[in-house]
Amino acid sequence: MKAREIAPDIYWIGVIDWAVRDFHGYTTLNGTTYNNYLIKDRDITLVDTVKHSFADEGMANLAALVDPSTVKNLVVNHIEDDHMGALARFMELMPKATLYITEKGKSGMERFFETSGWNVKVVKTGDELKTGKYTLTFVETPMLHWPDSMMTYVKEAELLISQDAFGQHLASSARFDDEFVNCASLSELDEAVIDYYANILMPFNTLIKTKIAEIGKLGIPIKTIAPDHGIIWRSNPNKIIQTYLDLAGGKADLRVAVIYDTMWGSTDHMARGILEGIEEEGVSSKLVKLRATPTSVATKELWKSRGYIVGSPTLNNGIFPSVAEFVTNLRGLRPRDRIAGGFGSFGWSGGAVKWLYEQFEAMKLETVGPCLELRYKVLKEDKEKCLEFGRDFARKVKEYHKKFE
Ligand code: FEO
Repeated sequence: MKAREIAPDIYWIGVIDWAVRDFHGYTTLNGTTYNNYLIKDRDITLVDTVKHSFADEGMANLAALVDPSTVKNLVVNHIEDDHMGALARFMELMPKATLYITEKGKSGMERFFETSGWNVKVVKTGDELKTGKYTLTFVETPMLHWPDSMMTYVKEAELLISQDAFGQHLASSARFDDEFVNCASLSELDEAVIDYYANILMPFNTLIKTKIAEIGKLGIPIKTIAPDHGIIWRSNPNKIIQTYLDLAGGKADLRVAVIYDTMWGSTDHMARGILEGIEEEGVSSKLVKLRATPTSVATKELWKSRGYIVGSPTLNNGIFPSVAEFVTNLRGLRPRDRIAGGFGSFGWSGGAVKWLYEQFEAMKLETVGPCLELRYKVLKEDKEKCLEFGRDFARKVKEYHKKFE
């Protein structure tokens, strides 16, 4: 893909990973991009590199615009492999470049690469780098989403290179939000933003609100937000900032995701009855069967919904494996501003639902009870129990949702 100018003499020179479907366990149904940026100023400056497996393509993109040996500065905003994996290869081409990185980034980078001989300058929030007509200001964003993370603001271009924040796993020939509409529908872009937020940024809601407020206080105008994945925001950067504030503030739809798996059909049968009950209360609902749905997609469905109910059959007195995987992933994400419930079926003795509520409690989730657990088969008389469970959950979700209106 050819370089694209995103501001005068500042170029996107990243690579597009059309085929990746497994991004460290996160299912990327639409691929992704690894964005990096070149500032062709008096002092040529590169911001980030690319994933190690795209090193050759990334270096060719750079060489198409400048002689790589003339790169004077290399900003490392984040040391995760998808942005820094090709760093050593790039440094072979620009051994005299000075690296700008946070303290935590430097200590992490030294675990990945032999850095003796590299010029490394540790930077912190507010530090500036003058490249000629442009001034770069560094803004540390620890735990968004790694301890080393930072963003780079290019003052004269009013450009925020935001690293993982505001990104999306979305491979596209469009580079900008206003171009994307020609490739697909904008709702696909909105969906990609929520998917990325749910699976990567969900645990950092409070930090996101704090960091956006901090950036706001700096009073810096932002014309363009250029993340390290996906589409660049230039038509209305405030929209994605507001979207993040909404998501971090608990925005969700009044609906219920019923996320479950089943062995011989009983839990599935229960899920359908529960869904019916939820809908009777005028709340929309969606069934998400785990072995038919990637964990990351189920997580996104949860994040879009004000309430979610997890269902599992009991297997050997415990939880069903696919449900265990989903809930284990959830333990790291710690969803807030939603209410949870559990249900399941068993043959000889229960156990799965007890396990679910123990996990909910360990995650300090807001749950509603009572749970529902049925033996062997959903008989005619059990149908009403499922319906009422769904109705009751929907009523509680409606009440809970009022807090956010
Ligand atoms: Fe896109 Fe945290 O790496």
